[in-house]
Amino acid sequence: MREVPFSFEIQAPDYVPTEYDNHIQRKLSSMRGQYLNQDAYGDMLSRDDVLLYQVYELKRPEIEGELLHGISIVHPGKVGNEYFMTKGHYHTILETAEVYFTLKGQGYMVMETPEGDSAIEELAKGKLLYVPPRWAHRSVNINPEEDLVMFFVYPGNAGHDYGTIETQGFKKLVIEKDGKPDIVDNPRWTQPEGK
Ligand code: F6R
Ligand code: ZN
Repeated sequence: MREVPFSFEIQAPDYVPTEYDNHIQRKLSSMRGQYLNQDAYGDMLSRDDVLLYQVYELKRPEIEGELLHGISIVHPGKVGNEYFMTKGHYHTILETAEVYFTLKGQGYMVMETPEGDSAIEELAKGKLLYVPPRWAHRSVNINPEEDLVMFFVYPGNAGHDYGTIETQGFKKLVIEKDGKPDIVDNPRWTQPEGK
């Protein structure tokens, strides 16, 4: 791994970085239990294990002081009436933040804290989103035609905790209603214990 400064390019139209170390491809089968409409999920999966999103990461030491960074690309589509989205996670070290800069597309970042606070911010080309420490985050692509492409950067020691979200999802869901995105309560969600 290089210990000298380096640079690379992230260019339209596909925004795949000219340098990367890991290419993660998340398919429908890895999102079992995440979409509210389980029947629609099962039907879709029986036809095709669709590619939902991709992440290109530059490898850096996972230690304090380093910055992990790369590109995430959420493809357009829906499972039932719920838009394609990332799994979503807390950082294992809760007190670590993340910055997202949207390069292409439109969406929402769905966020919440362990105390049950919830927030949703719009993602659009040219917009920068700051996700403060303690906020779990999931990106959702609401454009039926276009990829949602974002650059992200976060502390090297953050780590990922997927388990909490896998168990109960996020408090809010982004669905399509009458041809438009709508934010609704997740009926599976319960207030964290003791909060
Ligand atoms: C890293 C981060 C992003 C996501 C990416 C995929 O902390 O938030 O790089 O990892 O958007 O989402 P997940 O990791 O939830 O599958
Ligand atoms: Zn993160």
